[in-house]
Amino acid sequence: MHSDIDLPVPAVMIWSDDQLSILDQTRLPQETVYRQAQTPEVVWQAIKDLAVRGAPAIGIAAAYGLCLGARGLEQKSAEDALAALRQVADYLNSARPTAVNLAWALNRQMSVAREHCQSGLQASLYQRLCEEAIAIHRQDIALCRSIGMHGAPLIAEGAGVLTHCNAGALATGGIGTATAAMYEAQCQGRQFTVYADETRPLLQGGRLTAWELSRAGIDVRLLCDNMAASVMAAGKIDVVIVGTDRVAANGDVANKIGTLGVAILAKHYGIPFYVACPYSTFDMQTPSGAGIEIEQRGAEEVLAIGGRRIAADVEVCNPAFDVTPSALVSGFITEQGIIYPPFEESLSQWDNDNGASD
Ligand code: MRU
Repeated sequence: MHSDIDLPVPAVMIWSDDQLSILDQTRLPQETVYRQAQTPEVVWQAIKDLAVRGAPAIGIAAAYGLCLGARGLEQKSAEDALAALRQVADYLNSARPTAVNLAWALNRQMSVAREHCQSGLQASLYQRLCEEAIAIHRQDIALCRSIGMHGAPLIAEGAGVLTHCNAGALATGGIGTATAAMYEAQCQGRQFTVYADETRPLLQGGRLTAWELSRAGIDVRLLCDNMAASVMAAGKIDVVIVGTDRVAANGDVANKIGTLGVAILAKHYGIPFYVACPYSTFDMQTPSGAGIEIEQRGAEEVLAIGGRRIAADVEVCNPAFDVTPSALVSGFITEQGIIYPPFEESLSQWDNDNGASD
């Protein structure tokens, strides 16, 4: 049974009157502003800019974006409508390469579209895709809750929990993935402290995680990224919980740049390192982390903070994600429970049971 947990932040996106309103996270926490999207192009840009970000949230946004692209296709033949929709799906999928949830949500929408058109129902294609996007959104809310129920026991009374980036309510339709365990542990009455890495270059930890956890009344301490080793050495961290953008079939984990360093530190200090994610983040078609495309972003994100130059005018290296080898992962907190090593076996068994790679 799930407990009731209120969202500590404004809705990440709202679908209403055939329009998608996207909370512009680039402006948080200072301003709460929504971008209005009536075309797939605006959704693509919002994903690209990280106005909407976090693997589950960009999947949901893309699912709605495809609805916007289905407008006006009612008069076309089933074949032409599907071909036009495929182009929009490919376009939306090109916004960011690393999070598999984007392709997952678009593939789910495309198979619904195929089935609908093959039944000669393309006149109502837009309506059908809207229903499916809403279903994906609602399902994500439920998945987050279940992840929270399974993850909460990892957070004991008085524990210190370290997290990186934002795998929170701002990254999903619901109460987050990594943060779901925290909200659920709080709901169960436990007091604990979350240490949030600020997560350069775009400060998702400082701007978003620290903001949402403090609004929820959770004791949160903000760390510069280079402080994690020191707080671990001081014995303040009992468990690390992070989110992920894609998990390969062998359990390698792509997540926000800096996660790998945290995982190595956790191993050194004997601290369990958990990764929280829904089934849509497992990519069983990709054998290992070596096959995961890492998004490279622009130099300005590193050279400046909040639009203000803070560095010398030099070349920059800005990979947005890194890959943590499965050997450093203690377990995956999923909506069905915690998956433990050896991951090649446990994930393959889990995939067989769930047909997750369909
Ligand atoms: O670049 P971002 O902000 O989209 O990166 C987000 C992350 O790395 C999250 O940890 C991940 O998407 C999981 S969100 C539940």
